[in-house]
Amino acid sequence: MKIITAQQTKALDAHTIAHEPIASIDLMERACRAFVTWFTQRFDNSHTVGIVCGTGNNGGDGLGIARLLQGWNYAVTVWIVRGSVAESNDFKTNLERLKNTRIKILEITEAPECSVFAGSDVLLDAVFGSGLSRPPEGVYERVITCINATATRRIAVDIPSGLMADQPTTGACVEAHATVTFQLPKLSFLFPSSHRFVGDWAVVDIGLNKNFIRELPGDHFLLQQKDVRKQVKKRSTFDHKGTYGHALLVAGARGKMGAAVLSSRAALRSGVGLLTVHVPQTGVDILQTAVPEAMLSIDAHSDFYTALETADRFTAVGIGPGLGKSPETVKALKKLLENFQHPMVLDADSLNILAENRELLHLVPPGCILTPHPKEFERIVGSWQTDFERLQKQKQLAAQLNGVVVLKGAYSSIVGPDGKVYFNPTGNPGMATGGSGDVLTGILTGLLAQGYATLAAAQVGVYLHGLTGDLAAGEKGMNSLIASDLIDFLPEAYRRLG
Ligand code: ACO
Repeated sequence: MKIITAQQTKALDAHTIAHEPIASIDLMERACRAFVTWFTQRFDNSHTVGIVCGTGNNGGDGLGIARLLQGWNYAVTVWIVRGSVAESNDFKTNLERLKNTRIKILEITEAPECSVFAGSDVLLDAVFGSGLSRPPEGVYERVITCINATATRRIAVDIPSGLMADQPTTGACVEAHATVTFQLPKLSFLFPSSHRFVGDWAVVDIGLNKNFIRELPGDHFLLQQKDVRKQVKKRSTFDHKGTYGHALLVAGARGKMGAAVLSSRAALRSGVGLLTVHVPQTGVDILQTAVPEAMLSIDAHSDFYTALETADRFTAVGIGPGLGKSPETVKALKKLLENFQHPMVLDADSLNILAENRELLHLVPPGCILTPHPKEFERIVGSWQTDFERLQKQKQLAAQLNGVVVLKGAYSSIVGPDGKVYFNPTGNPGMATGGSGDVLTGILTGLLAQGYATLAAAQVGVYLHGLTGDLAAGEKGMNSLIASDLIDFLPEAYRRLG
């Protein structure tokens, strides 16, 4: 799913109006109906509804929603905020359509007392939509403060008033519990700093022109199951284990063998043909017992480098989980980077080593996947002021390394060397538990070893990983989810993509 800018949204509305063709007031009505369908499925008409409207088209949406909800016998109160924005034509039409209804309409022309919005069970925010171009001031700013001061459930129509769709938000902004957005999500919805404004968001289809959306230029996408499914390789009758590659995982240290076990089991469950794991001497028995399907580079414990020098026989390498940062390990990573010219997954301590030994960054071969969490990412690229700047830094690093950088978190972002960004919708806070990242490294290494192209491996792997978390949380709840659960649900997650 493409994520478009506010400017493009305007063009999309206009194109739909001209080419469907449909009158803009009828398109607004369609948006109102879509909102109301979402709303009535969640709140019955025993709830009283307050709607705070601006005087632009978002306010027009709010008035249309008021009329439709009244038709469903909700008790509705409307506040119209009159500041500097001139009434749009569709706002005017929808205001006219409220005449002769029982809806109570109150006008706000100057900074109100915050008790003004008390009394509704649900408060809808339709002050500003994606047409916001600067931070709200004066009466608008005060109204936003008052909306946030209510103890009621707050739902934003299209976008919380004050939130910039595709640039940093600097002014007052409605803190919605939920946002119902039209047609496509906005870029800022996918950033951690916006969560307190957007809440849980949902997209409703209002029939904007899909061909036009496809043709719009854009670098930001939200992954969808249908896109990921297309990329999953199908197995064929005469395939054998050699068909599915031979992965090497370099993981684990004394006291951190769990990381090696988790990544190994995940790599095997991702479908790799053969797996060799490079662990320190102390971990040999643990790994052989916990993961009997894996081979160990047995001589590795006596010479940490031997296996790495001959690593080229592997079709992919994953390095980092539980590895530590000893001088020996730093040398080993350098050796590997110098000798292995196939795709690699660099995670955890291998990223910390890169951050502390920046000269090694130049040795990273093209086509690698880096999987930092935000702290690891900061160690490599330095700090950022806004999530937009963070994304920019992610694009720069992916371009510099000619590889893929996966920044882990809610809506993990996957950025390739061409600067295109794919946000992942799967996963949940239950996955915020030690070992989750090790599982991802195992999956990605397994996919690369099977011959997935770097970007496809990242998309399929990150999506699958999140899906295992959703399946595990669905069965066990989020609170007690552990990383092993993710591996247990990998077969079912795969089946859903089959
Ligand atoms: N302070 C004061 N005024 C501001 C501020 C600010 N901080 N920021 C922006 N404004 C002004 C803008 O200049 C603009 O005024 P102008 O139109 O006189 O230039 C106005 O506020 C924008 O108001 P919004 O309601 O936020 O935006 P817009 O009118 O563009 O509507 C829309 C947004 C179209 C409703 C969007 O959220 C959407 O796509 N909704 C779904 C589809 C829909 O209902 N479409 C409407 C019919 S189709 C059409 O209008 C093309």
